[in-house]
Amino acid sequence: MDRLLSRLVPVLALTAGLGAAVPAAAGDPDAGHAVFASRCAMCHSAAKGGAAILGPTLFGIVGRPAGSVKGFSYSAAMKSAGFSWTNDRLHAYLPAPSAMVPGTKMTFMGLKNPAQVDNLIAYLNTLK
Ligand code: HEC
Repeated sequence: MDRLLSRLVPVLALTAGLGAAVPAAAGDPDAGHAVFASRCAMCHSAAKGGAAILGPTLFGIVGRPAGSVKGFSYSAAMKSAGFSWTNDRLHAYLPAPSAMVPGTKMTFMGLKNPAQVDNLIAYLNTLK
């Protein structure tokens, strides 16, 4: 029983979305594309050099310094965030943008479904 429990606990933690270090490879990029289309594409292009909609293009977002698309008028908060977007940072940001970057002008309540977050991040990794 103890052994079963010790194997179950990490699985439950992951299911609860506490696994911030889950590699993006855990997600399904095709399912993530659908999430992007319904939740992000109204404000973000996915194309290289894509025009700003309300937000900047997310082409190349993984590994890109925050607030760095030339010509896009970022909030002071995003411009001075001082980090590059990694899978872990996207995991922290997407469920609660204004909690992670207070003062961001991304008016998006956050993606609360952990499986959708994993899938979306797997898709964002294909934008390069
Ligand atoms: C209502 C419009 C809107 C929606 C919907 C939206 N965003 Fe944004 N997003 C923005 C704006 C505006 C910014 C710029 C934020 C700032 O300057 O503070 C931004 C910034 C970002 C950034 C930082 C970009 C950079 O260059 O540093 C990421 C990453 C991001 N959004 C991802 C997403 C994803 C993924 C989704 C879908 C789940 C999404 N956004 C949905 C408007 C939106």
